Amino acid sequence: MNTTFAKLAVPTQGAAVVVMSEGGKLGPVATKLDKQTHGTLSRAIKAAEFTGKREKTLTIVAPAGSKLNRVIVVGLGSAKSFDANAAERLGAGIYEAVNRDPAVTIVLEGVDGDAGALAAHLAAGLRLKSYRFAKYRTKEDKDAKPKLKAVVVQTDAPNDAKKRHAALEGLVDGIFFTRDLVTEPPNIIYPESFVARAKELTKDGIKVEALGEAAMKKLGMGALLGVGQGSRRESQLLVMRWDGAKDKSAAPVAIVGKGVTFDTGGISLKPPPGMWDMKWDMGGAGVVVGLMRALARRKAPVNVVGLCGLVENMPDGNAQRPGDVVTSMSGQTIEVLNTDAEGRLVLADVLWYAQQRFKPKAIVDLATLTGAIIAALSDHYAGLFSNNDALATQLTAAGQAVGERLWRLPMGDEYDRDLKSPIADMKNIGGPRAGSITAAQFLQRFIKDVPWAHLDIAGVVWNEKPTALAPPGGTGYGVRLLNRFIADNYEK
Ligand code: BES
Ligand code: MN
Ligand code: ZN
Repeated sequence: MNTTFAKLAVPTQGAAVVVMSEGGKLGPVATKLDKQTHGTLSRAIKAAEFTGKREKTLTIVAPAGSKLNRVIVVGLGSAKSFDANAAERLGAGIYEAVNRDPAVTIVLEGVDGDAGALAAHLAAGLRLKSYRFAKYRTKEDKDAKPKLKAVVVQTDAPNDAKKRHAALEGLVDGIFFTRDLVTEPPNIIYPESFVARAKELTKDGIKVEALGEAAMKKLGMGALLGVGQGSRRESQLLVMRWDGAKDKSAAPVAIVGKGVTFDTGGISLKPPPGMWDMKWDMGGAGVVVGLMRALARRKAPVNVVGLCGLVENMPDGNAQRPGDVVTSMSGQTIEVLNTDAEGRLVLADVLWYAQQRFKPKAIVDLATLTGAIIAALSDHYAGLFSNNDALATQLTAAGQAVGERLWRLPMGDEYDRDLKSPIADMKNIGGPRAGSITAAQFLQRFIKDVPWAHLDIAGVVWNEKPTALAPPGGTGYGVRLLNRFIADNYEK
């Protein structure tokens, strides 16, 4: 998609979008267009009782007096509350209305606040919604295929918009990379092929390295390796570094992702219905890779290290058994009572490694860790767990700002007790209650004295229905959130 910005002027060809604020009048450009079309716009607005409610649209086809194919009047809502978030959502809504046309001109007039930034966010939202994953279709209905190629956004501040948009393009590229990884089938994305994809990021200036099973064995990563031991695919630990700060040796922020490229449950096998969903059990790792791309593309002045524990959880003659005891890199032993509680085993070793090697300022992990978080929060919030109130507040604020919301859940000894094992330092499951919290307690046992947060994203990685900024499928949830969190708190 080719996006450009231009000064306000009456559009003359293709499809045109004009905005109308709630209960308000049309802006100067839309009014000119209305005159040119002999009042067609104002008559249609009246006839349809269109009030300008946010994201409502009214389409007028081939209006007389103009060469335009169609004019779409879209509601801006109240101009005062029309912020970056609302602009992105409006852009996404516009995409839905105009993707049958090859070219569209959007007249963004009558907004409060930073016109350039709002235009840039509108364009970013439009592109986010245009994501498609069609590489495995050999037959496709021509009419079903979107045609939109060229987008012009008109604004008071086109130069400003252009600059702001350049940074946002990198963010959208990162989100698309995440969505691709999450959507790819599990015969295509497995630990080594995931690493191969991540190596594309060296082009962005990111240092990418990977540790195989022999290296992890040397480090004593018995928890991670136990999960992968039933798989024909070799487990991998992926390490990506973006050193964008002035002081390249300054302690980084560490972002850690669960990358289970397929989770059958192992010997504690999952039931067949819905098991296919477990291809996106690498969603946390997918976010880490997309985030690294976004940071690099906008040359973020910050040091960030991204780590992904990549394994496939399979039942096999060599798979770990319920009852096995494994020794983690930290030295703590774990009784594996349920091989389907594998994500925490993977993260235990990656979190430990991240702290040992990088001495990070803060550490945030993302994981599709528990079904229980979906029962608690559905797809409206991701779960947040933290040992640090300031960090939790920063993350919550970043999520609020970009519309990827977090809800903090409690932690404490009363939950931690559920992890007691009669023969090892801990077991890998708690009791029947508060499953998301006992999972977080398990992770905390591998955190030393560093601000840490865990995001349980099981409910938000994938959506069967379209979301505001994404078609059905992988959402890329978390890339925007962490990009914002890092920009607001670690960049100078
Ligand atoms: N990957 C799953 C969690 C999950 C479930 C993510 C549904 C997305 C949708 C995880 O590895 C898992 O199996 N968790 C178990 C833990 C239980 C055995 C303690 C769960 O949530 O049932
Ligand atoms: Mn599992
Ligand atoms: Zn899992």
